[in-house]
Amino acid sequence: MRSIRGDQRAPARAAGATAAPLLLALCLGTVYLSCLAACSEDLVDETSPDVCYSQKRWIGKLTASEEMYPGHECVGCHREFDGPEFMAAGTIYGVVDPEGAVTTDNDCFGVEGALVTITAADGQVLQTRTNRAGNFYFEGREESLAKPFKVVVQYTTDDDALTYQFMNTSPSYGGCARCHTPGVQGTPDAVAGAVLGPDEVVEGAYPIFTGPVPPGL
Ligand code: HEC
Ligand code: HEC
Repeated sequence: MRSIRGDQRAPARAAGATAAPLLLALCLGTVYLSCLAACSEDLVDETSPDVCYSQKRWIGKLTASEEMYPGHECVGCHREFDGPEFMAAGTIYGVVDPEGAVTTDNDCFGVEGALVTITAADGQVLQTRTNRAGNFYFEGREESLAKPFKVVVQYTTDDDALTYQFMNTSPSYGGCARCHTPGVQGTPDAVAGAVLGPDEVVEGAYPIFTGPVPPGL
């Protein structure tokens, strides 16, 4: 897991503590664009396609938002920094990007509207759609999700093609980016396709993709 320096927390809250909740509410509302100019700090940046495939990235650091830190390990960081608890959470991208160069590396937004279905070991089915950042989350304590679980992601691309991506591996931890981050160190003997224990990590999982798959892959 990527470690976050403790000092990142302070600047996010330092300026205008009382005005922050109101400004944040405005940012997330319909006046989002006009607020960008008025807000003390911008949360989202437009990029070129060689920085982010989606051409948008998060620059709001630890500002509390459902669009924060796309591609990162939401569940673990929320535990560490007292954010809201999630049973499972992550980000879905519209491109295959094994190195994370135009997705997770640059805090890039993913795809909006992807349907994420988790089937827990006790048969409970959780379903939600990704937001504008490509982020999704299920509120609740991570421990309350019965393990191991199954995952399916469905998405309708801009040209109306339906994609359906499922995971062979059955993980026992809800923070998707614990494995879906290029360069993670795998647990010895933990292999893709297996049923995994809570602390087992598989290396080689791409940033989670759905949607158009480039030819040749
Ligand atoms: C670097 C650590 C970190 C990462 C990574 C992170 N968060 Fe957060 N998040 C926080 C903290 C801390 C808070 C609470 C901040 C506060 O209350 O001031 C928070 C708050 C939130 C909130 C509450 C927003 C609100 O309006 O109160 C949501 C929703 C959220 N995060 C979603 C996510 C999702 C989804 C991801 C992953 C794609 C994610 N976060 C990744 C640290 C993180
Ligand atoms: C313990 C490690 C681990 C965790 C945690 C994990 N995955 Fe995976 N995932 C993998 C591996 C390894 C593969 C590739 C082999 C396969 O299909 O099982 C994969 C493949 C996938 C795929 C198919 C390929 C792709 O990228 O579209 C999807 C979709 C997926 N995972 C979604 C998720 C979601 C959503 C979560 C979080 C709720 C998650 N995964 C959590 C290891 C993990």
